[in-house]
Amino acid sequence: MSWHQVAQADDVPEDEGLCVKIDGHAIALFRVEGEIYAIDDLCSHAEASLAAGFVDGGLIECPLHQACFDIRTGKVMTGPATEDVRSYRVKIEGGAVLVER
Ligand code: FES
Repeated sequence: MSWHQVAQADDVPEDEGLCVKIDGHAIALFRVEGEIYAIDDLCSHAEASLAAGFVDGGLIECPLHQACFDIRTGKVMTGPATEDVRSYRVKIEGGAVLVER
């Protein structure tokens, strides 16, 4: 595991996701109440990008079948998905977003 710089903090919007890649692996960044969080971009149900979903408070709704995940933890809150998505530790250094993977 190591830290990877993936974006500038200012590039992460408040109301939508930002998809970034670490070694080809897609990770979705979100901002909730000023804090930045990182979870796997790929929905645990099928082939959909969570970064392209709909942010509702601290939840992200999958754009394909509307499963909801907790942005802070990756925990699935409503189906049809049944598995959590992975969440990653995030830190901000000098205005840059670093994700541990
Ligand atoms: S692909 Fe996300 S709920 Fe089906």
